[in-house]
Amino acid sequence: MTWDELDWEALARLRRRFIGQEPFDGPYWESESEIASYDFTYGERIGWKWDHVVRELRLRGWHPPAGPVLDWGCGSGVASRRLLREFGATWCSRLTLWDHSPLAAGFAAESAARGFPGLSVTQATPGLLGGDEPVGLLIISHVLNELTPAARETLLELVARAEAVVWVESGTSAVSRALGGIRERLASTLRVVAPCTHANTCPVLAPGRERDWCHFFAPPPPGIFADSGWVKFGQRAGIDLRSLPYSFLALDRRPPTEDRAGLSRVIGRVEHLKPLARWLNCDAAGLAGLELPKRADARLFKELERTREPLVYRWRREGDRVTGGEAVGAKA
Ligand SMILES: C[S@@+](CC[C@H](N)C(=O)[O-])C[C@H]1O[C@@H](n2cnc3c(N)ncnc32)[C@H](O)[C@@H]1O
Repeated sequence: MTWDELDWEALARLRRRFIGQEPFDGPYWESESEIASYDFTYGERIGWKWDHVVRELRLRGWHPPAGPVLDWGCGSGVASRRLLREFGATWCSRLTLWDHSPLAAGFAAESAARGFPGLSVTQATPGLLGGDEPVGLLIISHVLNELTPAARETLLELVARAEAVVWVESGTSAVSRALGGIRERLASTLRVVAPCTHANTCPVLAPGRERDWCHFFAPPPPGIFADSGWVKFGQRAGIDLRSLPYSFLALDRRPPTEDRAGLSRVIGRVEHLKPLARWLNCDAAGLAGLELPKRADARLFKELERTREPLVYRWRREGDRVTGGEAVGAKA
């Protein structure tokens, strides 16, 4: 696929659906060229979010469990391909792709087989989804707002059987809060690995916090701003190319190996004013608005302005004033 081969009409149709002008009332993929065009554009942007999530999981010392992988609601299959690319595929015994659109599942299976020669790649069978085969690592990406209540329950039954789950969604308030509700529901059976740095009830969902939501921003590759294809896509899709908001959840059944004592997660973006940086912070004590005066640590101030890494830190603090800090896995 190249920018010249893109099916712009199909992308316009998808856009109408994604912005809510057309309902999600069953499988909607109409052609292979539509899926390929999605994969090249919307899917690629989702891939950048996955790259950021995987980076955080690696920095935090997490690795997928050896065994099978199931990509549920796979679309073009970008999520599982990105995760396997970043973690290597040697631990993966089999990649299974499921989408209620057979066209999408077929495209995803072919792309994965091409991308990972030697990997066992299959499309899901009723046996796997229905409850007698191990699920292994369950991958879910950008599907929550398309599900009927019944489909959501079916998915949550699979989540309950999984060894681990990595679930990435858009960064809107509604979707992030829905994912937060799912976290609360699952936290008694699966351990929350990330983005949380603690196992407490999610403080964003507490009364009085209705205006906050747990979301992050992935950095797009810098080259896209000078790429006429991406610029044209951004204009036609009505997308700000600089902004890649997402929410996510990583869950695991295995005992922890990651050390998260004292870790904080920055929610949203750090805001830089002249004399200070400020942000909403989440840690084991809950949510707090923190400030870093520039003169307290000019190096850290600059790092927070420039870094492309996920914002997971161990701060040194005096109350809500930060005096210094180190990024998680700083030497990794
Ligand atoms: C926005 S696309 C995301 C695709 C892919 N996961 C990604 O991140 O690029 C949502 C996908 O979910 C699939 N889907 C929606 N409802 C589903 C259901 N009930 N069962 C299986 N797949 C579903 C759609 O067919 C579509 O491929």
